[in-house]
Amino acid sequence: MASESTPQSIPLPLASPLSIPVLGLGVFQSTKTHSSVLSALSAGYRHLDTAQIYYNEAATGAAVTEFLAKTPSVSRSDIFICSKLWEVDLTLPGMPPDFESMAHPNPNGGGSWKTTVARLGLTSYTKEGAIDGFNRSLAAMGPGIDYIDLYLIHNPRPGPTARLQAWLGLQEIVKSGKAKSIGVSNWSKHHIEELIANKEVDITPAVNQIEFHPWCQHKALVEYCQQKGIVVVAYSPLTQGTRLKDPVILDIAGKYGKTAAQVVLRWCLQRGVVIIPKSDKEERIKENSQLWGWELAEEDMDRITALDEGISGKLGEWDPDAWE
Ligand SMILES: NC(=O)c1ccc[n+]([C@@H]2O[C@H](COP(=O)([O-])OP(=O)(O)OC[C@H]3O[C@@H](n4cnc5c(N)ncnc54)[C@H](OP(=O)(O)O)[C@@H]3O)[C@@H](O)[C@H]2O)c1
Repeated sequence: MASESTPQSIPLPLASPLSIPVLGLGVFQSTKTHSSVLSALSAGYRHLDTAQIYYNEAATGAAVTEFLAKTPSVSRSDIFICSKLWEVDLTLPGMPPDFESMAHPNPNGGGSWKTTVARLGLTSYTKEGAIDGFNRSLAAMGPGIDYIDLYLIHNPRPGPTARLQAWLGLQEIVKSGKAKSIGVSNWSKHHIEELIANKEVDITPAVNQIEFHPWCQHKALVEYCQQKGIVVVAYSPLTQGTRLKDPVILDIAGKYGKTAAQVVLRWCLQRGVVIIPKSDKEERIKENSQLWGWELAEEDMDRITALDEGISGKLGEWDPDAWE
């Protein structure tokens, strides 16, 4: 079998030395964030992925603070926290709205996302709104957390002007030291190109967090980001559990004596992307972290890579190219 070569972290393209651990715990739809984050930190995870729209920044921050207090060998700088700016201030009266339609909108318009934005405006995707939004995220994490490692613009949907304004706000946050790095999520190549072509933009996104797994590989976008030095973070790397009985994956899992989840995650790592699998089960949190000390051979990598279904293999409505 090929030798072990996957690093545990990848440097981020920033002036300050900062690395992103290649394995993180995602907490979208977690029903017990506090204990799952504690389980993950105890299992050796050093990266956590939350967001305003997950409504669990507070539980994430509290769990990190609790873990650090009882684990003197680990310091805050060993743990990498990512959160994301939603386009509407979720603390406004009348929020949260219907969560499902906010999180999985129809990209062609209609639905309650448009209604909410028409009523409240893009309260977070302005320069001042982004600064306020970041400050709300940081405050939500509690007094034990006084900076965020990576803060993302959650999606490109609000359009070019709003994206630029939000980014200019987040640049100010980096300069203040309260965020170590900033990036984007669900952005396609044209969104990134358009942003960085702007004279006022002096920080390139450190990461682009996108749906990525064997059945939806966004090959051109990943290649573009990797060439630019933008780290790709794979969300829903386990397809939210929906494709783990694929016969190719099960065959390869049997060959290596690993689980289907481990094979899919290991394939992602060997593709050079960061993974943030979510689990609320302690055993699965451990299982999903046992990814080092073995490696998929090239022929097995190729078999998994051949499973790509392009954009039709995506799970939800998010399509980076669907937004202006
Ligand atoms: N930026 C964005 O727009 C965006 C969108 C979606 C997700 N994300 C981020 O990416 C993270 C991960 O994506 P995701 O939560 O959508 O899905 P995922 O990590 O692909 O899958 C999570 C699902 O798989 C199950 N699971 C976990 N480990 C397993 C294992 N070893 N064997 C079998 N099933 C397993 C989990 O159930 P149990 O909990 O019961 O174990 C859960 O139902 C999110 O939590 C979030 O942080 C970002």
